[in-house]
Amino acid sequence: MGDKRVALVTGANKGIGFEIAKQLGNRGVTVLVGARDEARGIAAVNRLKAQGIAAQFVLLDVKDQHTIDEAADSIAHRYGKLDILVNNAGIFLNEPLPSGNDVSTLKEVYETNVFGVFRMTKTMLPLLRKSDGGRIVNMSSSLGSLTLNSDPDFELATFIVLGYNSSKTGVNALTVFFANELRNTPIKVNSADPGYCATDMNGYSGPRSPEQGASVAVYLATLPDGGPTGGFFNEVGAVPW
Ligand SMILES: NC(=O)c1ccc[n+]([C@@H]2O[C@H](COP(=O)([O-])OP(=O)(O)OC[C@H]3O[C@@H](n4cnc5c(N)ncnc54)[C@H](OP(=O)(O)O)[C@@H]3O)[C@@H](O)[C@H]2O)c1
Repeated sequence: MGDKRVALVTGANKGIGFEIAKQLGNRGVTVLVGARDEARGIAAVNRLKAQGIAAQFVLLDVKDQHTIDEAADSIAHRYGKLDILVNNAGIFLNEPLPSGNDVSTLKEVYETNVFGVFRMTKTMLPLLRKSDGGRIVNMSSSLGSLTLNSDPDFELATFIVLGYNSSKTGVNALTVFFANELRNTPIKVNSADPGYCATDMNGYSGPRSPEQGASVAVYLATLPDGGPTGGFFNEVGAVPW
């Protein structure tokens, strides 16, 4: 307990999530490194601790409500609150064109990318309400923007990936609806678009670094009280829904 902010980042053992944890830690925030694999999570914690960051491993599989409940109990016991939740964990499946998909592919990607964000947000909300100024950041993508996907000149128009892209549209819906529910509280809920970053998710094909991708999430996670809620942002500004 105390005044020190506590942040939980899901999928923080690598990629953009690890960089979010690092950047928050460098600002003096205590970071809880959510990872579904204990060895990978502890390795990430050790890398952060070696840089002087206050980090702790939390076992979290966003598909498994039991691990989420255990994490919430342990955070309640140790810190009594949660200031920042970054719903970063996500998967990308290689998919055929929309008409070649089947429901099982869509269910698989939604289970992590959409229902995982819902489970985490719902379960952590009582702890976020105990913070003076809770912040929820949902990792979305410009690929989830219906406005951009409707534009034939969209630079990523070749990524016609129904499951992943619409899962990020679903993430944006969660942002809007939770922000509306929480509008009369100090809690702010926003979606972050990190841009196309080189990570395991895309075989390191993105032109941006995970460090660059993390910056917008860190900005939204540390918004001042007068900051926006219910928005969708990249590092330049608002992204169309
Ligand atoms: N890279 C990009 O260009 C890009 C662009 C836009 C948005 N994003 C979004 O940014 C977020 C981070 O992506 P990334 O590029 O850093 O990908 P990444 O390197 O593949 O990392 C994904 C993270 O999510 C974790 N994860 C997956 N399923 C999980 C589950 N069921 N429970 C808990 N953790 C789980 C992974 O854990 P394991 O190590 O155990 O697999 C890993 O830590 C994702 O939401 C992604 O959609 C990425």
